[in-house]
Amino acid sequence: MSAGRSFVAVSRAVGALALLVVLFPCGAPAGSAGAQVADGPPVVKITAPRNGSTHAWNSLVNYHIVVSYRGKSTQYQELPASDVLLQAAYVPDLSALAGKPPSAASAPPAGLLDITNSNCLGCHDFKAKAMAPSFAAIAARYPDTPATIGLLSQRIRIGSTGVWGEDSMPSHPDLTDNQLHDIVLWILKDAANRDVTYYVGTDGAIRMQATGTPVRRAGMILTASYTAPSTAIAQGQAARGEDVVILRGK
Ligand code: HEC
Repeated sequence: MSAGRSFVAVSRAVGALALLVVLFPCGAPAGSAGAQVADGPPVVKITAPRNGSTHAWNSLVNYHIVVSYRGKSTQYQELPASDVLLQAAYVPDLSALAGKPPSAASAPPAGLLDITNSNCLGCHDFKAKAMAPSFAAIAARYPDTPATIGLLSQRIRIGSTGVWGEDSMPSHPDLTDNQLHDIVLWILKDAANRDVTYYVGTDGAIRMQATGTPVRRAGMILTASYTAPSTAIAQGQAARGEDVVILRGK
């Protein structure tokens, strides 16, 4: 008997739930938003670290980024993780940002995107010496003049060896004059910026790095962005997405 009663109770509960679903069809708006996202710009989400979280200066903070675009996701390796760029910028006073989201200012410049979309980062790091000189070291070695832009563009195009050591850089015949110009300009102007570090990929660890001695309100802004390769861009469609989180330092 008691089993029968509880069956009735359960079926009533299920009935009530069904009624709730009919009255509040929360699935429908979410579904139509999903459809918009499918033809919209890439959706970028920094899932870790959490926005507003606090981390010790100089510690390593693990990050994870998920990008979805046109039904494909980095989670299932349908979009290459190497097209995902994370910019970590030191900010001496986070309270100065109050009310204005920092995102618009942080769109990656053309030269940086060309670097990310080419094979450069297989050999070069932005700041650390790898098999090839870092972009910051290259910026420190040459004056920022039109002659340097010409010289380095040419070396990237035809390849180079013997300038920094024994290792050689392959040629890049696929890059246009404009792309080479943007790339070299970016290296000379921005690669040595001590406040900003770049990471490539959906997973890794950023360092809570302060320029000078961090003050109480200092923190970092992480901007993850994904730009669809130009072949995937239909005319007139935005093909860039980004997400921003702010970290406090302690
Ligand atoms: C296979 C490894 C490799 C790849 C890929 C690569 N480089 Fe290099 N790059 C090197 C090495 C090694 C050197 C140092 C060459 C030398 O000593 O002459 C170098 C040197 C340079 C220099 C300095 C040249 C000079 O004369 O001082 C620039 C600028 C540069 N690379 C930019 C790029 C860019 C931009 C890309 C991507 C489009 C790229 N590299 C891809 C290995 C690479």
